Amino acid sequence: MGNITRRTFLHRFSVLAGSSYPAMMALGLMKKASAHPFQLQGSGQDTRVIIVGGGLAGLTAAYELKKLGYHCTILEARNRPGGRVWTVRGGTEETEVGGETQQCAFDQGQYLNAGAARIPHHHEISLQYCRELGVPLEIFNNVNENAYLYTEGNGPLSNKPVRIKEISHDMRGYMCEFVEKAIHQDALDLPLTQEDKEKLIEYFRVEGGLNPDLLYKGSDRRGYQVAPGAGDQPGEYADPHRFMDMLHSGFMDPAMSNLPVYTLDLQMTLFQPVGGMDKIPFALAAKVQDVIEYGALVQEIMKTEEGARVVYKNKEGEMKEISGAYCICTLPLPVLSQVKSNLSSNIQRASDFVEYKKACKVGLQFKRRFWEEDDGIYGGISRTSQDITQIMYPNYDYLGQKGIVKGLYNFSEKALATGNLSLKAREEQALDQGSKIHPQYQKEFDNAFSLAWHKIPHSLGGWAEYTEATRQRFYPDLIQPDGNVYLAGEHTSYHTAWMAGAFQSARRTVAQIHARVTEGAVQYQSNE
Ligand code: ALA
Repeated sequence: MGNITRRTFLHRFSVLAGSSYPAMMALGLMKKASAHPFQLQGSGQDTRVIIVGGGLAGLTAAYELKKLGYHCTILEARNRPGGRVWTVRGGTEETEVGGETQQCAFDQGQYLNAGAARIPHHHEISLQYCRELGVPLEIFNNVNENAYLYTEGNGPLSNKPVRIKEISHDMRGYMCEFVEKAIHQDALDLPLTQEDKEKLIEYFRVEGGLNPDLLYKGSDRRGYQVAPGAGDQPGEYADPHRFMDMLHSGFMDPAMSNLPVYTLDLQMTLFQPVGGMDKIPFALAAKVQDVIEYGALVQEIMKTEEGARVVYKNKEGEMKEISGAYCICTLPLPVLSQVKSNLSSNIQRASDFVEYKKACKVGLQFKRRFWEEDDGIYGGISRTSQDITQIMYPNYDYLGQKGIVKGLYNFSEKALATGNLSLKAREEQALDQGSKIHPQYQKEFDNAFSLAWHKIPHSLGGWAEYTEATRQRFYPDLIQPDGNVYLAGEHTSYHTAWMAGAFQSARRTVAQIHARVTEGAVQYQSNE
């Protein structure tokens, strides 16, 4: 920085950038931008911005632009805000592309987060918007060792529910025993001193719960066969599963691995808004309600000499045209590809190459919370090799009467197959396969609501899934303006599949536009 002071630098930079915010970031004067409200300086001077799509990115862009004095219009095809941040409740109606109309019959107070459902603790930007908008959060229990694993096959442990803790602790115990043996026998190609070996052996003894002979013989970590009680009942724990039985029963297949514990985005702690994920988009929509037009089907997006022009059909079916200095298009790529535009060919063709994840969910309302009452499962996830892939238990209303279990949440090929079934057949798939884990299903079942994201109008996919090649070939064009048209949405971030990506993309786009309007040189910190 030569011999100018931090203060001078800040001043000069803020004049240049129209904002001291990136400068402060650059100087490390702000701890973490995403954990604070987004603060840009300078006025948008009533500049008109057309925002296509009232999902999280579109709403956030409008909210931030409004703070800066821009004049926005959001065109949203649905009659609700939020896009893929969608909570299904009794009365919700949906018709998939080429599908039957479905009316949700959940009881009052029950809900299914059909899209976004969990917020990782390190997604500071998502937590910040909840903080700023006053959306109360509760814990989303992503990891429950008392839930089940269920594999289909010929192994001795297949075709019956097995508690996750039995498999995870038995596996850890045997692994530690094996590595300890290898260290003991100098079978590892590592330059270990005697002292190193002793330290490592001690680590594996504790980590694996090994006995004094350094063998894994089970422990109370995996739960009791007879629970300890008062009087003369100290409790009994069962023998561990045999290593080979677990191997031959599919518990070491990748689908059964303990990914929820290991994956960064799925590690506890995770959160959910109290009452449904759509509390977030509704809170944002309340801040910009005067500028949202619902039922607006965008037909054309054109960059023009003056800025941008958007043609849409309003909810009365009339064709309308609106012009602005800028346009922010948040349409998912498969939807954008169906809209007429003069955008660059790379943008128009991106959806032919950038994959969107196929994903299905089936919500099952049960008359009784048997998973809690009979199985002692409070939130968390059971996992299975069957097509339903997982069963996610509700993280609200513990000990209540009824509840909604996410009885199927699958992806890719499995989701393609589920999505091709009739609504009735999807319900049967969830019930038949889920019954193998919870036989109570058939007796306690009330009603179901299912969805295949790749068939949901105005979304046409779960989330963008880049390969290295598509990141390289298309992504750079998707995050730069094409004339005065900008793209936002999770697909224009490195945080695809998460609300954080949508929030980040909105901030990036707002900073890009604001830099142009204030003739500054804001370099947005893309990791905010
Ligand atoms: N972020 C999505 C989920 O939590 C994909 O399942």
